[in-house]
Amino acid sequence: MSTTQPKRHVAIVGIGSYLPERILTNAELEKMVDTTNEWIVSRSGIRERRIAREDQATSDLAAEAAKRALTKANIKPEDVDLIIVATLSPDMPFPNTACFVQKLIGAKNATCIGLEAACSGFLFAVDAASQYLLTGRFKTALVIGAEKLSTVTDWQDRTTCVLFGDGAGAVVLQARDSGEGILSTVTGSDGTLNALLNIPGGGSRNPASLQTIEKRMHFMKMEGKEVFKHAVRAMGEAARRALEKAGLTIADVACVVPHQANMRIVEAIRDRLGVGPDKFFINLDKYGNMSAASIPVALDEAVQEGRIKKGDNIVLVAFGGGFTWGAMVVKM
Ligand code: UT7
Repeated sequence: MSTTQPKRHVAIVGIGSYLPERILTNAELEKMVDTTNEWIVSRSGIRERRIAREDQATSDLAAEAAKRALTKANIKPEDVDLIIVATLSPDMPFPNTACFVQKLIGAKNATCIGLEAACSGFLFAVDAASQYLLTGRFKTALVIGAEKLSTVTDWQDRTTCVLFGDGAGAVVLQARDSGEGILSTVTGSDGTLNALLNIPGGGSRNPASLQTIEKRMHFMKMEGKEVFKHAVRAMGEAARRALEKAGLTIADVACVVPHQANMRIVEAIRDRLGVGPDKFFINLDKYGNMSAASIPVALDEAVQEGRIKKGDNIVLVAFGGGFTWGAMVVKM
């Protein structure tokens, strides 16, 4: 006689987020660069964003989000055995930002990994942590998307500086036999398009020098229009494939939490999936694009506001520099 083993999935057992207090409004940006509130709202949907204090680094934002997620999960920091921090604005080139978070929260038994996949970073980090949890190598993972983008934003470049903000979101993950958790994941990358969205200076290609600083190469550069087109196509397709892999349709989904880069990108993906505004959780009007932090912060707010409940199927979908993209179907 054979017994069927219940399928093991990686479940989200706690979520937390942290947003710096300081709000930077579009009206303030009007005084900094040649822009208008009307342009920013109509082209992006963003009304304000948060800016971290000078004395806060990315790990400080990450640690706050992590503590809140651990409290929700009722798990002690010393019981965490894996921390992955996804960020494109690390405290330093090394050690990786997860090591700083480990120290700040006292997760002394954790292995600490940094992961960089730009705006897809959180999704890629959850996927990586899941593999460790499914093999049984680690039992409890803390995955954090955290960014202090204000330090890599060129405040003289109106085409980018109106778009980004600072923040952090975290989830605690554990493998479960109960049927809840990550049902499917789709990821992809296209390195041939790396030049459309990057920070060209400060790495081994263009090490920091007076010249790289003069050329403002340590700030984010983006070919917005091109990125826009690729983002719509890749996110729409990734969400569709992840649903197919999970054996679900969009009608089975309670909420889609997309990367929060631009309201017009969200609308285009909604059209591609054939659903109305109610199915998407959006908070980019308040925070702008927080890269790796966007999805976990939105996920936390969606749960807190009752938009996502236990047992709901949700879709997380991201796109970022690299290019990188992915989607995940999760039963909460
Ligand atoms: O998170 C990773 C993924 N990132 C994204 O998904 C971002 C994708 N891209 C976008 O969100 C949009 O392309 C932007 C919001 C960045 C730009 O919107 P757009 O409709 O593509 O505008 P555009 O770049 O074509 O610029 C239109 C005009 C230009 O002027 P001309 O050349 O038509 O005279 C720009 O110089 O708007 C001008 N412009 C601005 N005007 C006022 C650009 N930035 C600003 C600004 N204020 N801040």
